[in-house]
Amino acid sequence: MHAGGKERLGAKRILASPRIYTWFENALGAHRAREIFVREYLQAAEGERLLDLGCGPADVLDHLPGVDYTGWDANPAYIEVARRRYAGRGNFVTGDVSQLDVPPESFDVVSAMFVLHHLTDVQCSLMLAAAARSLRPGGRLVTIDPCYAQGQSPIARWIISHDRGAFVREEKGYRGLAERHFGRVRSQVRGDLLRIPYTHCLMFCTEPLDS
Ligand SMILES: C[S@@+](CC[C@H](N)C(=O)[O-])C[C@H]1O[C@@H](n2cnc3c(N)ncnc32)[C@H](O)[C@@H]1O
Repeated sequence: MHAGGKERLGAKRILASPRIYTWFENALGAHRAREIFVREYLQAAEGERLLDLGCGPADVLDHLPGVDYTGWDANPAYIEVARRRYAGRGNFVTGDVSQLDVPPESFDVVSAMFVLHHLTDVQCSLMLAAAARSLRPGGRLVTIDPCYAQGQSPIARWIISHDRGAFVREEKGYRGLAERHFGRVRSQVRGDLLRIPYTHCLMFCTEPLDS
């Protein structure tokens, strides 16, 4: 294994701890980034049924109004912490997002915060198809991930290249995946969401396609 692989494995083990994950993310400014994501992009209203894919410890609940929340994550330690921390605020499911099993048209909004860059194209496609099926007509999927971009700061590029997620893409890569499952995909690249140089790609996907 090359040095980068070893570094990534080490970071993966340390950040698998829910407490260290939340502390580390907040030190970088993730709290503010989540607040902006919820306010400007997710725009979830009281009572909406929200499915949060790759929810982690469900930190996003600190920013949400009284939605009907379902969080889904492969890491049982994250789900355990979410259940304890946000008891009574939602349902928390341990499971792989590429094997999502939810009734059709059962959600108003699906979020996937920092998840697509952990998944292969095939896993993304399975997750996005299931997300599209799970949305009611008029529903929306909103995503955010690190991305590579022309002209981005070399520091941002270096940090992003050392992310735990091994499938960071450019905006067009993320869009291409989403456009297979949604008739309308709007995307935006931002470099101002964290305290450190960093580049994010956000997508707002509507008009779910049959797949
Ligand atoms: C960077 S964290 C983001 C967590 C949370 N959405 C947030 O914004 O803080 C990525 C999350 O995706 C989850 N994840 C990665 N691959 C997954 C998969 N195949 N199925 C379900 N969850 C997955 C990880 O366990 C982790 O909680």
